[in-house]
Amino acid sequence: MAEDAAQDRLQDRWNAVDRFVGELLVPEDDTLTGALAASEAAGLPAINVAPNQGKLLHLLARIQGARTALEIGTLGGYSTIWLARALPADGRLISLEYDPAHADVARANLARAGCDKVAEVRTGAALDLLPRLAAEPGAGPFDLVFIDADKANNARYVEWALRLTHPGSVIVVDNVVRGGGVTDPSSEDPAIVGTREMYRLVSEEPRLDATVVQTVGVKGWDGLLVARVVS
Ligand code: SAH
Ligand code: DHB
Ligand code: MG
Repeated sequence: MAEDAAQDRLQDRWNAVDRFVGELLVPEDDTLTGALAASEAAGLPAINVAPNQGKLLHLLARIQGARTALEIGTLGGYSTIWLARALPADGRLISLEYDPAHADVARANLARAGCDKVAEVRTGAALDLLPRLAAEPGAGPFDLVFIDADKANNARYVEWALRLTHPGSVIVVDNVVRGGGVTDPSSEDPAIVGTREMYRLVSEEPRLDATVVQTVGVKGWDGLLVARVVS
């Protein structure tokens, strides 16, 4: 179809810009490239954030002065490494991952990256792990939360993020545009429904001040929500 060909040409140009930006500003070191290679070799899906998005997470954590971070959805630990490297040596990152095979790959990648002192991967469904984490003395509050797991639960994850943060914390949610699908109120896709519920929750939550930036690039057309915990 002509439309598909047009979309392919557009995607090629988005990829070219990501390559251009990446070469200048986001040189991928062997550790990060190796983490992706190990993830691919283990058969993990390539749904990690793009390098320039990983760098954005890293910079947000740095700008925020984050010492602690919580991630929901580890996969092979690619975004985890970007975040862990933004934290001080005595900082702490907890990343929650449902799939034990993903968690194993991530732990090995974090160890190879030298991030295993800072970053810990916990295995289980995030909605089971989060209440336990909240009950743990000294586990929170976290300075930054990155939400990137099953999109159907996005609203629940933001609620937990609110419980586990403090005024000034940053909350980032990945994949909040989904090729524009998020504007469809009649969608029955659980990821769209869950993400739309998350938007509503954030919009009605006085403790959060937020924006969404649409992104194009190697990950196609998507977007990131960035929120500041106000109070
Ligand atoms: N943040 C990663 C990508 C995460 S992909 C990166 O950018 O590198 C989403 C991950 O969330 C997958 O590994 C998936 O297994 C995990 N996941 C799905 N449902 C989950 C749940 N209920 N609890 C915790 N993790 C979940
Ligand atoms: C999917 C999940 C992600 O976190 C992502 O960045 C892209 C795709 C997915 O489940 O398809
Ligand atoms: Mg994602």
